[in-house]
Amino acid sequence: MTKAESSQPQADITPLVPVWDSDHLTAFQQTLLDWYAQHGRKLPWRETRDPYAIWVSEIMLQQTQVKTVLPYYKRWLLRFPTVEALAAADLQEVLKGWQGLGYYARARNLHRAAQQVVQQHGGLFPQDLSIVLTLAGIGRTTAGGILSAAFNLPVPILDGNVKRVLARLIALPLPPNRALSLLWQVSEQLLPIDRARDFNQALMDLGATICTPKQPACLLCPWNHSCRAYQTHMQNELPVPEARAPIPHKQIGVAVIWNDRQQILIDRRRPEGLLGGLWEFPGGKIEPGETVAACIRREIQEELGIEVEVGDHLITIDHAYTHFHVTLNVHHCRHITGEPQPIECDEVRWVTVDQLDQFPFPKANVTIIEALKKY
Ligand code: ADE
Repeated sequence: MTKAESSQPQADITPLVPVWDSDHLTAFQQTLLDWYAQHGRKLPWRETRDPYAIWVSEIMLQQTQVKTVLPYYKRWLLRFPTVEALAAADLQEVLKGWQGLGYYARARNLHRAAQQVVQQHGGLFPQDLSIVLTLAGIGRTTAGGILSAAFNLPVPILDGNVKRVLARLIALPLPPNRALSLLWQVSEQLLPIDRARDFNQALMDLGATICTPKQPACLLCPWNHSCRAYQTHMQNELPVPEARAPIPHKQIGVAVIWNDRQQILIDRRRPEGLLGGLWEFPGGKIEPGETVAACIRREIQEELGIEVEVGDHLITIDHAYTHFHVTLNVHHCRHITGEPQPIECDEVRWVTVDQLDQFPFPKANVTIIEALKKY
C-alpha cells in the first residue's frame, strides 16, 4: 500500500472542495491533456495495454523512482512475462528478481495477487474496482493507475505526486494526508470520463517534472492560471508539511560465521516484516552498554543456538530505510560448538562465498557480500 492508502486522522474541510462548472472544467482538463501530448514522458508501460505489465510497473513505482524502476521492469517482464508465469514461480525466484528495489512486501504481494488472478479470475485482470481492491498489495491509487492505464476506465488516482499537485491547485491549508477524502474528491471531479488513461498519466508527469516538491517550474505549468498556490505566491510553502516523528537509528551487530570448510552461515528471515523471506547474515540489535562482540555472541546464541568466537572487523555499513536508519557492524566469526537451529528464522544454510549470489539478500547485505569477495 502506498502512503495515500494508509490512514491518518482526517480533518473535516468539506466546504473547501472546489466546484468547477462544466465549461471551465472541460477547458481545464484539455489544457493538461494538450501539455501531456507535447511533454509527457515516453515510458515503456505507456506503450502497452497489458494490465499485467502495467500492474507490475505500478507496484514497482509505488516507492521507487522511474529511473530506478526502468531496468527492473524490463528484466522482470523477460523473467515473468505473464501473470501465469509469475503465479507459478517460486517465491525465492520472485524475491531474487526484486533484489535491490526494497520494500519486499511489494514482491510478495505481487506474487500472491498473481495467484489470486489466476485462481479466482482465470488469469484475466478484473475491471471492477471493488474486486481489484481485494488483490494483495493493491490499494485505491494503484487500482486507479492500473484500471485507467489498461482499460481507460475513469478511476481516479492519488499518489504522492498527485497529492502535491492538487494540494497546490486548491491551496490546501493542511497536510495532504489529513485531507485525503477531499483530495480524492478533487481527483475524481477533475478526471475526464473518456480520457482517464492520458489524464491520470498527465497528472503524474505534471507532479514529477513541473510541480516538483522544491522549486516547482510554475512558469512552464499548463495550470498556472488556475493554481491557487501560484496565484497567491504560496507554491514554495505548499503543501503544508506532514508532522514527522524523529527517525530512530539502530546499531546492529552482524556475524559472518565461518566453519572449517570455508563456508559461511546464512539464514532466511521469516516471511513477515520489511525484509521478510530474504536471506541475511545473522545478527541483531546492540543493547545499551553492550559491545559489538557481546551483542553478536548473544544474538547468535539466541537466534541459532550456537557458540561463536568473534574475530576481525570486516565492514561497517550505514543504511537508511524510510522509517529508521541502521548501522551494520560486521565481524568475521568462527563457529565453535552447536548445530545451527532456525530458532528465530525459517531456514539456515552453510554456503561458500561463490554461492552467495544465488540467494536474495537485502541491499545492505549485498555490500557485505562485495566486501567478502574482495577479502
Ligand atoms: N508513478 C506511478 N505510476 C506511474 C506511471 N504510470 N508513470 C510514471 N510514474 C508513475
